[in-house]
Amino acid sequence: MTTSEGSRATSYSIEYHEKTKYTPEGLARSARQLDWSAQPHPYKEYRTGAVLDLRPYLPGQPEAEQNASSVQPDAGVAERCRISYVLYLTYGITAMVPHPGQPFYLRAAPSAGGLYPAEVYLISRGSAGFPPGLYNYQVQSHSLVRFWSGDAWSDLEQACFNHVAFTDSTLAIAVSVVFWRSAWRYEDRAYRRVFLDSGHLLGNHELASANGYHVHLVTGFLDDLVNDRLFLPKEEEAVIALAVLGQEGTTANTCCALPSNVVTDYRPVPEGQRLNFLHEISKLNQWRPLPAVAEPQEDKYNFPFCLKVPMQTEPLDWQGTLEHTIIRRRSTRRYSGEDLTLAELKHLLDFTYQPGHYRDQGFDGAPEYAHLHLLETFVVVLGVEGLEAGCYYYAPRSNELRQVRFKNFRSEVHRLCLGQDLGRDSGAVVFHTADLPVAVRLYGERAYRTLHLDSGHLGQRLNLAAIRLGLGVSGVAGFFDDQVNEVLGIPDQEAVLYITTLGRPGGD
Ligand SMILES: Cc1cc2nc3c(=O)[nH]c(=O)nc-3n(C[C@H](O)[C@H](O)[C@H](O)COP(=O)(O)O)c2cc1C
Repeated sequence: MTTSEGSRATSYSIEYHEKTKYTPEGLARSARQLDWSAQPHPYKEYRTGAVLDLRPYLPGQPEAEQNASSVQPDAGVAERCRISYVLYLTYGITAMVPHPGQPFYLRAAPSAGGLYPAEVYLISRGSAGFPPGLYNYQVQSHSLVRFWSGDAWSDLEQACFNHVAFTDSTLAIAVSVVFWRSAWRYEDRAYRRVFLDSGHLLGNHELASANGYHVHLVTGFLDDLVNDRLFLPKEEEAVIALAVLGQEGTTANTCCALPSNVVTDYRPVPEGQRLNFLHEISKLNQWRPLPAVAEPQEDKYNFPFCLKVPMQTEPLDWQGTLEHTIIRRRSTRRYSGEDLTLAELKHLLDFTYQPGHYRDQGFDGAPEYAHLHLLETFVVVLGVEGLEAGCYYYAPRSNELRQVRFKNFRSEVHRLCLGQDLGRDSGAVVFHTADLPVAVRLYGERAYRTLHLDSGHLGQRLNLAAIRLGLGVSGVAGFFDDQVNEVLGIPDQEAVLYITTLGRPGGD
């Protein structure tokens, strides 16, 4: 995986990954003071457009209540109610932190550093509740601003290579990112974080939509066409995924990821320009056939004579609390250091990786990811009652943990997470990884986007299961990349993309 200094990586995204790795020496060299007064504003403003207030359509509000209890409910109002709640649960404001001058608002989806680079748009073909056009979700006022009226649907459908999901649907969500909001702090490495963030957001969206829709994820589209159609400012903001709201119960497996070019003949890209360069070269400008690969039937790693721990369990019982769980989710700031139980770990993994077990509780049994089969999961057990400490591979098909290395890695995980106490005091730490050269060979440079998007999506399921169980949870996107593999015994070809820490919440 590692390229030696000066040698050329086999693709630019692999080069980008190498160049944006954190190392102890690199971080010490680049330590800089952030000017918080210069932080980009995390809300997009529209000066023109018709505003549709979505608050009256939230549960418990008069408009919603009246329609629900009416003998002849209005289909338009009913749809506005559904979308109002879905948008709120996807990215709405769920908490306020007092701050001198101006309070700071936290949202339904977590975001690295609380920078909220994502914007959410609703695209309507013309439905009962939404006249045709383009709408931006205004998070602060929980409203939609219809900034363009007319048919954008057919252009978008074409830009998505006539993806089948558009045929029977009338509404779609577009998720964009404003790069500078995150790059301001995280510089080139922000490219990883904006996709992780958006994956969390899409996790909320998939779960919140299940009561009425099946979300078709579309990550293969002509970028420039989609961005132009949404009138996004060039190079500042770009759509990274579309989520078409299909009918509930629609079978999944519509193709959502398409391959892009592989770029090998790049010149050295200076620091500060790597994010933009990778985004540019991972755009699609034409249809490319899907790689001919069968989804693997077997779990990737099966170490000889390793300890195997079955993770089968009764499904986590949600008792209709999903919405409430999303609303009260927060990233834990401190763990107590107490152990988790094996039953809790089983529930966390079951909800995240076995969605089919949750159909009976009204969840989507087959949520769409770009290419889940290219992601792997490693679980480092620091303190789980009844489970030996060490690093395990989670085999999703067999639903079992397979031990990689025995040891209590508490102090190592602390160090690997850049010295953050979250790493030291958690009970279990989940690492999502991928073999980048394989992913790029199959899906081109674009794989780098979608692997991070999928990792964030899985991260959000872990977050919500943890909150449901009364546990603490926090994502960690800053870690010493190479040392993670070295120390924990994660195979070298697996590039670590994202970490989710889990534990018992401690005092603040
Ligand atoms: C991709 C990602 C990376 C994160 N990395 C860290 C981290 O390294 N350390 C940390 O304390 N919190 C981390 N967080 C948590 C954010 O700081 C948190 O989401 C944000 O402050 C908003 O608060 P909330 O999650 O409680 O709504 C991360 C969250 C995400 C989504």
